[in-house]
Amino acid sequence: MEVDDPMEGGLTNVDTSKPYADVHISEFKDNRQVRIAAHSHVVGLGLSPEGEAIDRQGGLIGQSAAREACGIIVELIKQKKMSGKAVLLAGPPGTGKTAIAMAIAQELGDKVPFYPIVASEVYSSEVKKTEMLMEGMRKAISICMKDTITYYEGEITELTPIEDVAAGNAYGKVTKHVNLTLRSAGGWKKLQIDAELYDSFMKQNIEVGDIVFLDTTNGLVKRKGRSDVYRTDHDLEQDQYVPLPTGSVDKTMEEVKYVTLHALDQANAEPRAAREGGLSGFLQRALKSKKTEITERLRNEVNKVVNSYIETGKAVLFPGVLFIDEVHMLDMECFTFLHRALESPVSPVIVFATNRGLSKMRNSDEVVPLGIPSDIIDRVLIVPTRPYNKNEIKDIVEIRAKAEAVELEPEALDKLAEIGMASSLRYTIQLLTPCKLLGATTKPGSPVSIQTIQDVQELFIDARTSADLLKEQASA
Ligand SMILES: Nc1ncnc2c1ncn2[C@@H]1O[C@H](COP(=O)(O)OP(=O)(O)OP(=O)(O)O)[C@@H](O)[C@H]1O
Ligand SMILES: [Mg+2]
Repeated sequence: MEVDDPMEGGLTNVDTSKPYADVHISEFKDNRQVRIAAHSHVVGLGLSPEGEAIDRQGGLIGQSAAREACGIIVELIKQKKMSGKAVLLAGPPGTGKTAIAMAIAQELGDKVPFYPIVASEVYSSEVKKTEMLMEGMRKAISICMKDTITYYEGEITELTPIEDVAAGNAYGKVTKHVNLTLRSAGGWKKLQIDAELYDSFMKQNIEVGDIVFLDTTNGLVKRKGRSDVYRTDHDLEQDQYVPLPTGSVDKTMEEVKYVTLHALDQANAEPRAAREGGLSGFLQRALKSKKTEITERLRNEVNKVVNSYIETGKAVLFPGVLFIDEVHMLDMECFTFLHRALESPVSPVIVFATNRGLSKMRNSDEVVPLGIPSDIIDRVLIVPTRPYNKNEIKDIVEIRAKAEAVELEPEALDKLAEIGMASSLRYTIQLLTPCKLLGATTKPGSPVSIQTIQDVQELFIDARTSADLLKEQASA
């Protein structure tokens, strides 16, 4: 079977002597996907400095061994000792696997990328399975770059918009660019800024005689105040006067940027011509808006550039985490891809989660432990999660109720814990919002009572009762 290597074109040992003319690197904050509404109370693993799990810390209850194991994994990831390795959170439904993965993300902080996907997402109709995985892997690797940027500081002595006749509109005029002259104690400089940046000038009412800070790389402009030379003795203006900046107008500073490989791919993908395919193509693209423009060739180019920066010490690579929830949904092709990817010199850490024991692999008759082929299982660190006792369930429900602003009578909380034990933690947590709603209509202003819970339970049954009911109806 043919599978793509996510790092093909390699991030090591590439020929860096060739020019990469068109690739430019710009900052892009990767949107850390927040699919975590159900886990919004989780803010970390809640470990002591010695790495021991503290109860109720980080928003987590119990599950100490798994949390402590994940604490070690987080440390290893931060020390870059986990690259190319995988972790599997394995345990029954509702034992906090996804919650703990979210806690790992929190512990890693902003600089180490964490990208979560649910395995079933790879079966999209538009994008190849392995392409989705590839994208996920590249969203889970970032580089840190030191960049030297030029900025300008000085008093404005000229600010002249240059206008142009708007295309297709003989009467309207648009600003083409703006001529700007800045002076400082050390000299002066003529600049041409684009119309977009000029908008920020207008918003801040910047005019001739003001002292500004201008960073054209990042499109930033800031008015620092009015130049001192404009101050008069009987000045009634409440303006802030600032001295003329020393040194020359243009200065440089070092900037550290974190950016994922995927963001670099995206930033450098050729913009699609908006006119391609006529109106229907135009609409379809808007409706489907899928990210197929990133080609393998482009990725290879980006890899080469990144590699040249790494080799010259300008950039450092940070393999982060790709979290694949419900991993038993993947098929052999996906696993083969991931296996190869893990062997590549640069790979993120892959954290899997599954609630399956022995399970048939998707699109195959093979029954494998945990729904994962044995060659992958062999290289995975398995972290088990265990079912909760009634007190733990009660504590978790209490935390969730607080997060969802649901007030409960003490007996109602006990009742929900009982329900959690008898059916599932998920089910009992899901009852919270309907209870709040129903309680607000039947007994406005009072905390949710046992009666409300019973009423809601009659409306929304749990999975087991539902299955039993269907069986009964089928045999009737
Ligand atoms: N130890 C815990 N402390 C606090 N909240 C928890 C804990 N474990 C689970 N939860 C919360 O309980 C709910 C169910 O847990 P979660 O979804 O993490 O279970 P899971 O093991 O991923 O289940 P599944 O196998 O069905 O995916 C979530 O809202 C989660 O945030
Ligand atoms: Mg889960």
